[in-house]
Amino acid sequence: MSLPSAPLLEAVDVDKVFAIRQGMSVTSFSAVDNASLTLQADHAEIYAVAGESGSGKTTLARMVLGLERPTSGQLSYKGRDVATLSAREKRTWFFSEVQPVFQDPFATFSPLRRVDRYLFETAWHYHREGRSETETYIDETLGVVGLTLAEVRNRYPNELSGGQAQRISIARALITQPSLIVADEPVSMLDASLRMSILNLFKDLKERQRVSVLYITHDLATAYYTADRIAIMLRGWIVESGPVEKVLGDPLHPYTRLLKESVPRADPGESTLLDVDLPTPTIAFPLTGGCKFAARCSEATDRCRREEPADYEVDGRQVKCFLYE
Ligand SMILES: Nc1ncnc2c1ncn2[C@@H]1O[C@H](COP(=O)(O)OP(=O)(O)OP(=O)(O)O)[C@@H](O)[C@H]1O
Ligand SMILES: [Mg+2]
Repeated sequence: MSLPSAPLLEAVDVDKVFAIRQGMSVTSFSAVDNASLTLQADHAEIYAVAGESGSGKTTLARMVLGLERPTSGQLSYKGRDVATLSAREKRTWFFSEVQPVFQDPFATFSPLRRVDRYLFETAWHYHREGRSETETYIDETLGVVGLTLAEVRNRYPNELSGGQAQRISIARALITQPSLIVADEPVSMLDASLRMSILNLFKDLKERQRVSVLYITHDLATAYYTADRIAIMLRGWIVESGPVEKVLGDPLHPYTRLLKESVPRADPGESTLLDVDLPTPTIAFPLTGGCKFAARCSEATDRCRREEPADYEVDGRQVKCFLYE
């Protein structure tokens, strides 16, 4: 069903516009604005999407997962436009290839159901093998996340720790043997030590199982620790993207530089949140047509307030700023 030699995931000028009702008037608002990114198919990688609260990360993730349609632009998985897949193609192909992992593992599992039910259901849905083969397969998959079926069997969600529950939700995602996991803030509810073990698990999955991960986070330190490449989002825009050691090690966009200064140490064990003293006036800012960072940028010129910058290719990354024209 996929096209050979196509990228694993390709977003081209993707927009998501929401209508916002304020009293009698309706204004439109771009949660994702002209975003482009590519994950190659020839090797697995961890691609972080980082940005402060409200910058459009989850909206982008939901479009990648086929849960939301782009207002314009194109999102393709293995060369197929996700928005035009039939319900059947989604069910039999796409939803097994692209799997979500969410922030709160307990929201994924009903408190009234044993968690092993979810694993069996997913396995049966995609493999339809006999009972003992399925048990062996589930046990092997749980082994990848450091658990066994014996530990998980007959357990209800309230009998699990947050780390165990998140491992099981990752195991559930792995049952379909996906090529891409879309993980939206998968560790932000876990404490520091568990956070590291889940992030190491993603690295392991990349290396051993060749699973790529779109890692959505508002934590630069874990992005630096985990990802190969990163896109920095600002109010729907991707303002800088490229290899993580370049973008975070030596940021070029004034916004990325400001973010880096506000994160004292890239210590992934510590929670260093992007939101710290960076208020996000998401809706309060009218769209002026200029750079969305101009009002907060020490290097902004009149042109920045009037005109939208293009993406410039500089030193192996893309930077959306006139400084690099
Ligand atoms: N269904 C919707 N209708 C209207 N606006 C929406 C909708 N979903 C998201 N938004 C708005 O789009 C913007 C981006 O939201 P999104 O959830 O993608 O941000 P985020 O980067 O994931 O933030 P966070 O870090 O807080 O999770 C926000 O201003 C949000 O209020
Ligand atoms: Mg979000």
